[in-house]
Amino acid sequence: MAGEEGPPSLPRSAALDRLPSYPLADIPERKRALAEKGVDVIDLGPGDANLPPPPRAVARLHEVVDEPRYSRYGFQLGLPEFREEVAAWMKARFGVSLDPFREIHPLVGSKEGITHLSLACLSPGDVGIVPDPAFHAYRGGVVLAGGEPHFVPLRPENDFRIPLDELPDHVVERARILFLNYPNNPTAASVDLDYLERAVAFCRKNGIVLVHDQAYSEVAFDGYHPPGVLQVPEGRSVAVEFHSLSKTYNMTGWRLGWVAGNRELIESLVRVKSFIDTGPFLAVQAAGVEALRSHREWLPENVETFQRRRDAAVMALRKAGFTLESPKATMYLWVSVPEGFSSEGFAREALDRAGVVVMPGSALGEGGEGFFRIALTDTEERLQEGARRLGELRRG
Ligand SMILES: Cc1ncc(COP(=O)(O)O)c(C=O)c1O
Repeated sequence: MAGEEGPPSLPRSAALDRLPSYPLADIPERKRALAEKGVDVIDLGPGDANLPPPPRAVARLHEVVDEPRYSRYGFQLGLPEFREEVAAWMKARFGVSLDPFREIHPLVGSKEGITHLSLACLSPGDVGIVPDPAFHAYRGGVVLAGGEPHFVPLRPENDFRIPLDELPDHVVERARILFLNYPNNPTAASVDLDYLERAVAFCRKNGIVLVHDQAYSEVAFDGYHPPGVLQVPEGRSVAVEFHSLSKTYNMTGWRLGWVAGNRELIESLVRVKSFIDTGPFLAVQAAGVEALRSHREWLPENVETFQRRRDAAVMALRKAGFTLESPKATMYLWVSVPEGFSSEGFAREALDRAGVVVMPGSALGEGGEGFFRIALTDTEERLQEGARRLGELRRG
């Protein structure tokens, strides 16, 4: 009878059905339920530190937000001063000279740029080589572009690297894009310039776009300075590198990053973006200039905080019986799950029985099975308390 039919079934794209759900989607709800019961939940899940952004960035935001011109569209050009400051930063950090208007482009956080680049480079059926486990934007972009991700497990026996020489020919022939991320989320592994040189040579030989995600380039310890792909002399011919203010400057919510490198790739990305966004908030770009300028005086203390947290958490976790390496970089620890647990099972019990949020390795790809990730996003004391509770859970 008319009017009694159920709701119409609405269209969904084929790509949507190929996207996995967001790994931490149900955590806030479960955390809230536990907090309502009076549980003191220690959240070591997302890579979102409890530390403040550089004061100079905050002060600049206050200033410019009162000026109407910063409230207007930024368009793709954005604030020229931000591009110029990024160029100066890249020169000081990596020794590379880049054209601020053709080899650098501001992003609404690096994640959108990473995902959108696949829309600019891939046609349906093309293969994207994706590390597994990994930040989910790589897979997301490839799938949304109609491409096929080819997942390569990152395992301890390969130092959590993609063994480029061992990729099958049929994959390499169809591959159009390769994602690398060092220092790595979630495994916390690092590489030296030699690996990036080999990756550039591999991509040049096979006509593959090389994406290097360097969101954690500055969160590095014990005097280690992670190398960038644009330091490789031929890097610019095939590669772009994604940078973010999120982790370096504790500015996750501000949504500001940049891409640097091959100008043709940047031009293609900008074309896609011009249909999707209108650039980061100009006031945030102005504040970003100050964050970059405050790098030398502000960054060391912030990194020392992460280093102290790393040391405290590694020691506490080992004492609690867990097996893990002490990483040279990133805000993560990659820890083997105790025997008898799956990654997901351990993470679920960690929250429900110990009140500790950890990221199950398998939520970031099947290759992460057997591990869980701890984010160094809370104080040393809370990390130690979290480790103690996880140790109790381990002992049963
Ligand atoms: C490896 C990696 N790349 C990129 C990002 C995204 O950073 P942004 O906040 O700049 O989008 C993250 C965030 O967690 C990340 O872990």
